[in-house]
Amino acid sequence: MKMKGIILAGGSGTRMYPISKIYSKQLTLIYDKPLIYYPLSILMLAGIKDILIISNAETVPLYQKLFEDGSHLGMSINYAIQPEPKGIAESFIIGDWFINKDNVTLILGDNIFYGKLDFIYSAVKHTDGAIIFGYRVTDPERYGIVEFDNDGNAISIEEKPQKPKSNYAVPGLYIYDNNVVDISKNLKPSARGELEITDVNIEYLKRKKLKVIKIGRGVAWLDTGTPESLLQASNFFGVIEARQGLKVACIEEIAFNMNFIDENQFEKLISQMPNSLYKSYLERLLKEK
Ligand code: G1P
Repeated sequence: MKMKGIILAGGSGTRMYPISKIYSKQLTLIYDKPLIYYPLSILMLAGIKDILIISNAETVPLYQKLFEDGSHLGMSINYAIQPEPKGIAESFIIGDWFINKDNVTLILGDNIFYGKLDFIYSAVKHTDGAIIFGYRVTDPERYGIVEFDNDGNAISIEEKPQKPKSNYAVPGLYIYDNNVVDISKNLKPSARGELEITDVNIEYLKRKKLKVIKIGRGVAWLDTGTPESLLQASNFFGVIEARQGLKVACIEEIAFNMNFIDENQFEKLISQMPNSLYKSYLERLLKEK
């Protein structure tokens, strides 16, 4: 059984009004590349080559323009439409044909992770039950919140609780076995009219098939929900890239380093890019090899 990847890049993004009238948040620039490059790069670094991008009808063509069929990156990138923002768990119903008999990792198109992420890459190799993560935040009311017992086992998960039982939020990165498709098909919409990913996780918890890994302080899980947090994320990556002279989430570089493409393909890819700082960066990498 393979591990496939879904990026859900939907949502109405109205907190980004007025740009939300014409543009999807996941396409806005975080420093020097679209926001969606960051979650895509996480799936690539985990070795996932088969990807489905789900978005609304207006935005899917823009992603198709950006990534085509993925073959230039040595990947297979597919697209599907979520007509209305009816919940994260709807991804597994929309993507039923894509997941087929395989396992699936879902990442939200606006979630950014940075740091030593080996624990994610090894979790993706796991194929039984579900693995999600817990990350300490100061504003738990905004997220799915997981409560742990004294031995560190997850005992409850609640979506946006008014009285959070802990400060551990569940980030938008979920690793599931194939049962997720059936579980999602049997969900009832929540009070906000969505198929909640938290309800999927609660079902795995009931079946004693949910593992929750706490993420330590050395990892950044950045918020991109507001103009301020987008600016903070841009500054964060601007500082790192300027200091090291290395880009974060440069998908062509990752495709090459992960051996999705060979040197000839990498060279061809670069030669097709218009003159830009992005191209110069990749040319420098090729030369330094
Ligand atoms: C969603 C999930 C929530 C999770 C969050 C992570 O929230 O419902 O459980 O913690 O993503 O970004 P939403 O984007 O619907 O506010």
